[in-house]
Parts: sequence; C-alpha cells; structure tokens
Amino acid sequence: MIAAIALFLILFLPAIRLMHSLHLRLHRYYETRRQHQPALTLCVSRVRRQSRYLQLTLVAADGRALPKARAGQHIQLFGTDAAGQPVSRAYSLAQDCRHSYFYRLVIKAEAGGRLSGQLFNTVRAGDLLQASLPKGHFALFRSRKPLVLIAGGVGITPMLAMVYQALRQRRRVTLIYQARTAADLLFHRLFSRLAGLHYLPVLSQPTPDWLGGHGRISAAQLLAIGGRSASYYCCANAAMTEQLSNDLAKAGVTLHYELFSAGATKQSCLLQYRDISTDSAGFCSVLDALNSAGAGIPSDCRGGSCGFCKKRLLKGEVIQMLDPATPLAAGEVLTCCIQAKTTLLLSD
Ligand code: FES
Repeated sequence: MIAAIALFLILFLPAIRLMHSLHLRLHRYYETRRQHQPALTLCVSRVRRQSRYLQLTLVAADGRALPKARAGQHIQLFGTDAAGQPVSRAYSLAQDCRHSYFYRLVIKAEAGGRLSGQLFNTVRAGDLLQASLPKGHFALFRSRKPLVLIAGGVGITPMLAMVYQALRQRRRVTLIYQARTAADLLFHRLFSRLAGLHYLPVLSQPTPDWLGGHGRISAAQLLAIGGRSASYYCCANAAMTEQLSNDLAKAGVTLHYELFSAGATKQSCLLQYRDISTDSAGFCSVLDALNSAGAGIPSDCRGGSCGFCKKRLLKGEVIQMLDPATPLAAGEVLTCCIQAKTTLLLSD
C-alpha cells in the first residue's frame, strides 16, 4: 500500500503541480485580458464642460449597480477618434468610491488628443460608452499617519477619491493643488467646503485678486506641512513629480505617485523598429513616436499596466518616464513608459 502511494506521488505529483501552475497562468492571462476589454456599457447621464475639462457622470446602461472601485483607480474608455479609428484611454474615477451607482470622470481636452478631443466636442447626455472594469494600483496604504495629497492639473481626479477615503478613516488630510489659473481648479468649491480637509490651492498664473497660494509647490513647503512623519501621495505631470520626488528623497521621505502622462521630449534620437526609422523629438513616449511613423504597435492603457506595447530593446539607453506595473523580462521595455536617451533599436 505504502509503495503504491509512493509510486503515485512520484509519478503524478509533478504532473498535478504542472497543471496547477498552467491553470494559474491561464487564469492570470484571461484576467488581464478581461480587465483591458470593454466590459461595461455606460450611459452618459450628465455632461459638464468647464474651461478645457469635460466632466461626465456615467451610469450602467442596464440600470444596475456598477462594479466597486478603490480610491485612486481608473476605468478605460473605448471609442473612435475623428478618423473613425478605434482608440482607448484611461481616466481616473473622480468621486467617493463608496458609491457604486455612478462613475464620474474628468477628461482634459488635450491638443491633438485622439479620444479626449472627440469626446469633448461630441459627447451628449444619453450617449452610450464602452468601458473596462475599474483597475489600477495607485491606492492609499492603510495607515493612521497624517496624509499630504499633491495634485497637479487634472491629476486632481484620483486625489478626490483619496480625500473621501482618508477623511472616512479620520486621518489628518492636506490637499495641495497646483493649477495654472483659478478657472483650472477643478472641484474648488467642494474642496473649500469639505469638513476636515486642509485645502491649499496654488496657482502658477494667478490674477491680482487671487488670495490663495501662488508659484510652484516645493518639497520645502510640503515638509513644512507634513514633516517627515506624514505619508505623501502625488498625481501630476512628470516634471513636477520627478522634482518633488527627488527633493523629498533628499530629506528621507518617500513620495507615492502616479504619472498620468509624461511631457513631450525635446531630445532628438533615432528610433528603429522593423523597417521604421523615426525621430523621438516632440513625442511623449517611444510608443507615440513609432506609431505616428506607422509602426502600429498595439496599446491600451498607455500607462504601464496592460503590457500590450512591450518590445525588446536590442540597443540604446532609455529614460524611464512611467513605472511599469507589468512584469518584464531582461531586455524588455514598455514603449509607452520610455523616452529615448540615445539611438534605440527595438524588436518584437
Ligand atoms: S500601452 Fe499598456 S503598457 Fe504600454
């Protein structure tokens, strides 16, 4: 009997292990695909346009409750650009994520934005939009520490959800919000009146009658607010995030952040992929530069989480603009997350 059990274990245990690991891999693969496919049909219930921003309130087209999201997560909208080509973009949920009967998005109409411009110009109440499930890894760690949230421009959207969550957890919360002008401050009235929130708007181009902060948010200013013991979270453009992250690191403080886009590079480097040779200058990522030259590299999140734009880097040095949230083997890069430092040679 013992010999039979031993024989069974020797013969079949490795096979069972292998099948289990295959099952896990398949599950992960389909789960990733599922997260990046249109999974929800949403109906636009309210549209608001403020300055260059479009605010959409979306409900489930079938009237049911929507899948719960965590504060800081985003959904992906799927649509078509002005030329009728399919395109998708990720937008953070700008709301108290306790509510599951609507999603609220704020979309900045980017110059040349393929989906944002199209939505800004055409979307109406009653329209149906295809969206992914809520996803993303930018979330508050559970803690009792005071919290300093830093937002730049449209980076305020995930911070709104975090403000609600942190206030519910009775944390001491400061929101410091950089925008160009008072017209660019989203949810300004709401933040000004939110009980328990220490709200500090900072304008880089204030009018003479502006009474709030002006200039640029600095690490010294942040440390004066939260000291070394607070938790710091930031959602802003690459330049602002990098500066604050480096300056806070010098004081031994970690900045948790999410970049929603990198700025366009001025660096002119040759990019080579298949039979395409193009210049990196003027593009936010290697992906954008190659695709504008006709490479047709698939992309979805454009923020380092779906892995669709993964390529092999055969030669050259890159600047990592966004942190990849998907596993990479040695020599692999996510082209949406990098800019070129030197001439690059990429392959599939
Ligand atoms: S497009 Fe999703 S990781 Fe690059």
